[in-house]
Amino acid sequence: MSAVFEIHNLAKFHWEAGEQGADRYLFSHIAAEITQPERVALIGASGQGKSTLLRILALLDIPDEGDLLLNGTSYTISNSREWRMAVAYVAQQAVMLPGSIEDNLRTVSRLHGQPYDAVLSAKLIEQLGLDHLDLAKKAEDCSGGEKQRISLIRTLLLRPSILLLDEATASLDVDSTRKVEALLLNRHKEEGTTLIWVTHDLEQAHRISNRTWVMEEGGLQEYSSTAYYDRTVEGAVHS
Ligand SMILES: Nc1ncnc2c1ncn2[C@@H]1O[C@H](COP(=O)(O)OP(=O)(O)OP(=O)(O)O)[C@@H](O)[C@H]1O
Ligand SMILES: [Mg+2]
Repeated sequence: MSAVFEIHNLAKFHWEAGEQGADRYLFSHIAAEITQPERVALIGASGQGKSTLLRILALLDIPDEGDLLLNGTSYTISNSREWRMAVAYVAQQAVMLPGSIEDNLRTVSRLHGQPYDAVLSAKLIEQLGLDHLDLAKKAEDCSGGEKQRISLIRTLLLRPSILLLDEATASLDVDSTRKVEALLLNRHKEEGTTLIWVTHDLEQAHRISNRTWVMEEGGLQEYSSTAYYDRTVEGAVHS
């Protein structure tokens, strides 16, 4: 499912900000548009506000200026539960709900009034190499890497059209990382899911993206491809 997603002049005040000047903002003048299924790598130094931006895009935080439009409708007049189902955020630190792994997988669908798709769930569990897990196991007792993948599956079950991935493989080994990348590239290809993926790993950015957004100096720069970003920015730094 494709979506038209527009980010207009978005800004977030720095919470220690004075009244005026550029220091007032954590970021400002953020603008971008997604008109067809895309794979965006969002990169930038720690503390630039990448997670904050993704949380705002999913309406888990509010912008101080600007607007967000999904299929032409502003967030200000949209139903936030429906919005979060279409523009879904997978957190940097996976948080498990109380109960078993299966409770975790079912609860999110229930909260969103969606039927639980056991077939898709089993397929995702297998594709992410979690089929050895007993679904009755307490979710809180899972390892960090297992929690990260459970939280991803939980979100994928909502079939979002825009998936906001906050360092989705940060706790994973190489093999599991590649499985997550393959699965998400497949969801993009088969379902038309747009991926906006925060990563600090430029090689991963190459593998997963066709566009690159760079957060720096309180703004967002767009590069047509990660390779182009490398040549212009990294090339300039290293030459
Ligand atoms: N209004 C605000 N909302 C969120 N963070 C803010 C705000 N004002 C200032 N900050 C600070 O800005 C930084 C934003 O952090 P955020 O987690 O969004 O960055 P990040 O780019 O995701 O970093 P990392 O790569 O380390 O995950 C934090 O240091 C936070 O304390
Ligand atoms: Mg972050």
